[in-house]
Amino acid sequence: MTALLPRTAPFAPEDIDALNTVVARATPIQRSWLAGFLAGVEQAAGAAAVQPASAPRPRVPLTLLYGSESGNTESLALRARKLAQRHGFDARVVDMADADLAAIATAQNLVVFASTWGEGDPPQRAVDFYTRLMADGAPRFEGVNFAVLALGDTAYANFCEIGRKIDARLEALGAKRAADRIDLDLDFAKKAAEWTEKTLTTLAPADADAATVVRVDFRGSPAASDEPAFTPEAPLEARITAAVNLNGTGSSSETWHIELATDAPGYTYEPGDAIGVIPENDPALAADLAAAVGLGNDGDLVRKLTTAHDITTLTRPIVEAYAKLTGRSDVAALAEAGAFKSFAADRQLVDLFTSFPEKLTHEQLVALLRPLPPRLYSVASSLKAHPGETHLLVSAVRWRSHGRDRNGVTSTWLADRRKAGDKANVYVKRNRHFRLPKDSARPIIMIGAGTGVAPYRGFTEERADAGITSPSWLFFGARNYTNDFLYQLEWQEYVQSGTLGRIDVAFSRDQPEKIYVQHRLWEHRADIRNWIADGAHLYVCGDEKGLGRDVDATLARILAEPAKGDLEAGKAQLNDLLKSGRYQRDVY
Ligand SMILES: Cc1cc2nc3c(=O)[nH]c(=O)nc-3n(C[C@H](O)[C@H](O)[C@H](O)COP(=O)(O)OP(=O)(O)OC[C@H]3O[C@@H](n4cnc5c(N)ncnc54)[C@H](O)[C@@H]3O)c2cc1C
Ligand SMILES: Cc1cc2nc3c(=O)[nH]c(=O)nc-3n(C[C@H](O)[C@H](O)[C@H](O)COP(=O)(O)O)c2cc1C
Repeated sequence: MTALLPRTAPFAPEDIDALNTVVARATPIQRSWLAGFLAGVEQAAGAAAVQPASAPRPRVPLTLLYGSESGNTESLALRARKLAQRHGFDARVVDMADADLAAIATAQNLVVFASTWGEGDPPQRAVDFYTRLMADGAPRFEGVNFAVLALGDTAYANFCEIGRKIDARLEALGAKRAADRIDLDLDFAKKAAEWTEKTLTTLAPADADAATVVRVDFRGSPAASDEPAFTPEAPLEARITAAVNLNGTGSSSETWHIELATDAPGYTYEPGDAIGVIPENDPALAADLAAAVGLGNDGDLVRKLTTAHDITTLTRPIVEAYAKLTGRSDVAALAEAGAFKSFAADRQLVDLFTSFPEKLTHEQLVALLRPLPPRLYSVASSLKAHPGETHLLVSAVRWRSHGRDRNGVTSTWLADRRKAGDKANVYVKRNRHFRLPKDSARPIIMIGAGTGVAPYRGFTEERADAGITSPSWLFFGARNYTNDFLYQLEWQEYVQSGTLGRIDVAFSRDQPEKIYVQHRLWEHRADIRNWIADGAHLYVCGDEKGLGRDVDATLARILAEPAKGDLEAGKAQLNDLLKSGRYQRDVY
């Protein structure tokens, strides 16, 4: 039996894990070589260095709790852990999905990283924890020092709502706020790092240096290799090698199959991940915006507006700032919640400046704008099937309102202004909560509509490459069979070859009554229950409003049926599947 380092060993927790991994799998020869090597190191360092001056002090406990849907707060919490260890904390990262509320209430130091989703809702996997925290029976948090970092998007009415509510709730439950909450928009990286550093310094034990144990620079440890190779701040320049509209000519939709290629070392993804695309704005819109504030001839400004700033999203903070800048009472009135909601519903930034025109300087305009955020697209391929390639499925967003044609920034940049041979700056956004089952013998049920089918193409390619033959079932929905059956031939071939066991489709507009994916699920509910009983993993991907909510409700009904339609029982069962990782959602 191998002797492993105890948790109290004078190393950082991830170093203990790394050392234990190496020691556990070392052969007797390797172990005696290591012993000799360490003895040699100590000898060389001199006898005095061998004796520790005093026993290492106990490290101060810190809980880094996160609630995340698409991984942003999760990566902030993981980064905070590394920093915390340098500050002398014994830091542990806890996902709200796995958190025990009573245990969290006994934390000495607690830093919460919380994002907001839906319309002011917690991330799906955090709902349970959040509900218990907000409920009457929640435990007291006396003696807990806490701080909250809230992530959100100022384009949403309920900006950072969940972080705000958690912050207020912890205080109400008796916890002591160690640092003010910070609410961050999509450009959170730098501000989050600064806030975390400051907060940890506030919480840090006074003699942090003394408590910090000797660190071993163990390259290749899991924590080190988790760092993404490419980020929004340091993206990868990929080549676009194909861009094809998959919809038929008669379709009301426009869905682009985009292929990216790179031979950059360190570039890797898994099916289930998303790709962040850093777009450019339409230069014509940038020119319109500049002209609307009297800066039509400023070429530099137009270039900057095209590449660096969000020039479409009309947010409440921007209206407030414009009201302050111009001193206009009518703009101030527009910033009121109700007035803003109805004005902004189908308008963009340019409408603010054309409806309430004022002349601005270059600097004033730029100061009003937020950075241009990247957009995420599910990977629609497997690297094993297409080495060096990444495929995306992008629905072009276009609409017309108030006399203007409007275009989604990124989807139409890809559709209209990029062609094969052009470059695109991208990065990989890992999603470890949308993965094929580790146990490849498990059945899978994949449910998606429109671009929601993208990750299932990646899953199926991956399974084909690995020769996985466990039962698989795809539910796909779109408008018309003839024009909108995305990757139709591929699915048919997969069914013929047996790689895909079963496919059920719902084309909403092919008959007088609307038929959606959730109707197909209900039709096949007995089989779905059998598959779940056989250990199936369920996946849902696509539009939250158009698909996510209805599928969720239908699955709960399907599970409730044997319990005499008790919907609460169905929801509880679905929640159990969610918590055990057998119900995975990627809805946007
Ligand atoms: C994890 C994740 C994975 C995703 N995967 C995919 C994917 O595989 N494929 C895909 O196509 N998308 C995917 N998306 C969505 C994608 O990131 C973008 O949100 C989408 O492409 C729109 O971006 P855009 O820049 O083209 O449009 P934007 O410039 O962001 O404009 C979109 C906004 O315009 C407004 N708008 C749109 N239509 C109307 C209308 N009719 N009336 C009024 N206002 C309107 C809405 O405010 C909407 O939010 C994913 C999102 C996430 C979070
Ligand atoms: C479909 C959707 C809904 C969202 N709803 C809100 C919201 O209501 N309020 C808000 O502040 N942010 C909202 N956001 C923004 C997220 O909170 C933001 O992207 C955050 O960085 C996600 O962090 P996470 O990856 O840890 O979940 C929403 C994002 C998406 C894609």
